[in-house]
Amino acid sequence: MKSILVIGSQWGDEGKGKITNIYSSKADIVVRYQGGNNAGHTVKFNGLEFHLQTVPSGIFNKSTLNILGNGMVINPLALYDEMQRLIAAGFDCSNLVISSRAHVDLEYHLELDGLNEASLKDKKIGTTKKGIGPTYTDKVSRSGIRFCDFIDEDFPIIYKEHLSIRNEEIVRLGGEPIDYQTSLRKYINVITFLKPFVKDTIDILEKAKEENKKILFEGAQGTMLDVDFGTYPYVTSSNCTSGGAITGSGIGLGYIEGALAIIKAYTTRVGEGPFVTELHDDVASMIREKAHEYGVVTKRPRRIGWLDLVQLKYSRNVNGFKYGALMLLDVLGNIGEIKVCTHYKLDGKVIDYLPASLKELNRATPVYETFPGWNEDISKAKTFEDLPINAQNYIKFIENYLKIKFVVISVGADQKETIIVEEIF
Ligand code: IMO
Ligand code: MG
Repeated sequence: MKSILVIGSQWGDEGKGKITNIYSSKADIVVRYQGGNNAGHTVKFNGLEFHLQTVPSGIFNKSTLNILGNGMVINPLALYDEMQRLIAAGFDCSNLVISSRAHVDLEYHLELDGLNEASLKDKKIGTTKKGIGPTYTDKVSRSGIRFCDFIDEDFPIIYKEHLSIRNEEIVRLGGEPIDYQTSLRKYINVITFLKPFVKDTIDILEKAKEENKKILFEGAQGTMLDVDFGTYPYVTSSNCTSGGAITGSGIGLGYIEGALAIIKAYTTRVGEGPFVTELHDDVASMIREKAHEYGVVTKRPRRIGWLDLVQLKYSRNVNGFKYGALMLLDVLGNIGEIKVCTHYKLDGKVIDYLPASLKELNRATPVYETFPGWNEDISKAKTFEDLPINAQNYIKFIENYLKIKFVVISVGADQKETIIVEEIF
């Protein structure tokens, strides 16, 4: 495929960073098209470990151009810090561009995110408090600031107007107003630094298409956090599913040839909201510690559960993926029996679809198929056949249920600990 979409198929944290980094060595361009620094993509290679939040995972390959697309909401201060860390580590970021149409996540957005959450009390979303929701709210209500305006000489004037309106809201919600001069000062040097990176990315993508370049679209978050398809309102504020790649990049129809679903071998969720296969037992604690299931961004312990095929079938339907990358399979070693949810039971009926209503989803209970586990170390496996037969059976069952093919199986955190079943990009 000349271009591929890497999509989180569950609630985020599926291991998208690892896969994007492996594929990006073959990509001419990597595009992030939604979300912002609510994402936490961990990339490990050559004994190094990086946590990326805003910057695409292709940044480590000098010859790969990394685009922050128009669909993103970008905190310039956080982006600046992330770039400084990369530069200090020897990655000069000259292969990064920011869409002039991307929206700017500003100080008042962060403040409002925290205040909105506090006002929701026991109904809070459990956001990352990075200002994501308020920035998208401004975008949709046509009162946002885009990067083309952020780097414009008039930004101080625009910022003053916007801040004075937002300060009223901040005070109404019980917060302290943000001082204009102090806040503006934080942005001045950052604007000078970021200005050369801000470009019309539509033009860049158009040229890339003409030249048949290989493009990788790096999704953030996951299908169940999508504002349209997720467990609304316990979602993020963007389209994390395939459609988001079109609107969030300007690539247009036709160029993206397929999607690769990143599927964790079990399920995790961070933040509030329904989770049918959630576990509260020793298995959950063991998985959490073994895989260090704590948020990269917020450090919160992630909620853990068995793999949910009802949820994944829904995810396949809304994204249209035929290929999958099965992640963190090694984590399921040495835990005895492994369960997979194939149906839900709702009010006495067995169903195989995901209800839209959260009331129903909260009442649904999982119907499981149980598989014998394995105790062998699988981290050195290089082919599917190297895996213990019980692991093979687990994988085949998922493939048959979802009618997809796993082209990648991850058996450890490092890039080397990966089985490439089939090259598709
Ligand atoms: P990556 O890309 C997991 C969750 C938050 C919260 C909800 C809304 O690393 O997989 P937001 O701050 O976006 O308004 O929070 O979405 N969330 C994520 N969960 N992985 C992520 O990103 C997430 N980004 C946001 O925990 O429940
Ligand atoms: Mg993450």
